[in-house]
Amino acid sequence: MSDTNGPKHHKPREGFTTTLGVLAATLGSAVGLGNIWKFPSLTGQNGGAAFVFVYMICVALIGLPVMISEFIIGRRAQCNNVSCFKELEPDPKKPWYLAGIIGVAAAFLIMFFYTDVAGWVYQYAFRAVTGGLAGATVDKAGAIFGSYIGSVAGPLIWQWIVLVTISVIIIAGVTKGIERITKTLLPILFVLLLICDVRALTLPGAMEGVKYLFNPDFTKITGGVVLAALGLAFFKLSVGMGTMTTYGSYIGKKESLPKTAVRVALADTFVSMLAGLAIFPAVFAFGMKPEAGPSLLFVTIPAMFASMPFGQVFLTMFFVLAAIAATGAMISLLEVPVAYLTEEHHWSRVTATIVSAGAMGVVGSLATLSTSVLSKTLIAGKTFFDLFDFLSSNVALPVGGIVICLFVGWKLGQKVIEAEASNEGELKNLAFLKVFTFIVKYLAPIAILIVLLNGLGIIKA
Ligand code: PHE
Repeated sequence: MSDTNGPKHHKPREGFTTTLGVLAATLGSAVGLGNIWKFPSLTGQNGGAAFVFVYMICVALIGLPVMISEFIIGRRAQCNNVSCFKELEPDPKKPWYLAGIIGVAAAFLIMFFYTDVAGWVYQYAFRAVTGGLAGATVDKAGAIFGSYIGSVAGPLIWQWIVLVTISVIIIAGVTKGIERITKTLLPILFVLLLICDVRALTLPGAMEGVKYLFNPDFTKITGGVVLAALGLAFFKLSVGMGTMTTYGSYIGKKESLPKTAVRVALADTFVSMLAGLAIFPAVFAFGMKPEAGPSLLFVTIPAMFASMPFGQVFLTMFFVLAAIAATGAMISLLEVPVAYLTEEHHWSRVTATIVSAGAMGVVGSLATLSTSVLSKTLIAGKTFFDLFDFLSSNVALPVGGIVICLFVGWKLGQKVIEAEASNEGELKNLAFLKVFTFIVKYLAPIAILIVLLNGLGIIKA
């Protein structure tokens, strides 16, 4: 692959039309329940600021290079996450494309539980509008949440509402669906989040929560904590499974891939911090435990807003913003199999969407029922929900990340990296690309491997 012009491609494809559109779609994928639900709950469970610190190192040294790598693969090959490997390595004896197939599988794995949590969020947005959470104390909010996720029909119905919503957007297409929706919704999300922050930070006792986010206690860091931070970095930045490869294939030839990736990583981390600043001050102000985990969002936030003037308005805003974030992320996850099925297997976009979303709903119901009738069904000590979550973030994405780095660093190599990531020499970023090449060839794959083996208890570091 020393040819630097990139493969000439088959059919004309849709793509993102402007720099802003590229940013909205990619950031729309990165920003999601990861920021608003996973980041705060993992931070709470893993000891606060020290975890945040390790997380940021993982983002900068590993997540960001993997994102640039995926963009390079996608834009160079101009196709979905499986065909792109075949395009760039046509030799069938070197089956790099299997990494693409595993990526498509990982998209399903994530969606199985993501659509469940997104369903809770949609339901809470609806409940907030209709006043169902008015006046909830911490205890009452906890009881409402417990009884909701412990029921069967409601969570399943909302999971399907979520699936139908994202299917409609995906069927509308890359430009008219993904780009247009994210460009409209992302600014609204930012404004709503800032308003919620101002409210949380002016609560009495809010500083305690701020300290928790910024004042590290490094004795809390273990192998498991580092793996959790790495897994979160992958999950957060939507990397390791082909979302950014797929979106990369929609990025125009004039855009700077490294710049786009840096912007997404910075903005995404900023949103996580804003979400933390909306949630932890409230946790401490109400004397709750930061280790509460997944329920944090659904109990603290309603309790925080319940007791104040216009609380219901704020509460609605918060869950609407969470629903927006979740939706942008989910459309990028659904696009991965849809792009694959339409391009590689020539399905229509409508069929590919309905079949993929249908499968996500059917298997995803196992995750949804994990908090009710299947709560005692454990596999390797985990409920279906926890299993899907663990296998995707802590296994599939890091493994995918290693393969992506090796593919770009060793198979494509310096010349292609420089051609694609400098727009054929137009951008003057060669010094940066030398460092980048070193990271993806050596540093990132080795670091991911060590963290993975250590976190899984296979080696002791
Ligand atoms: N980044 C998304 C979030 O934080 C989740 C996601 C993971 C989206 C992988 C696409 C691919 O919620």
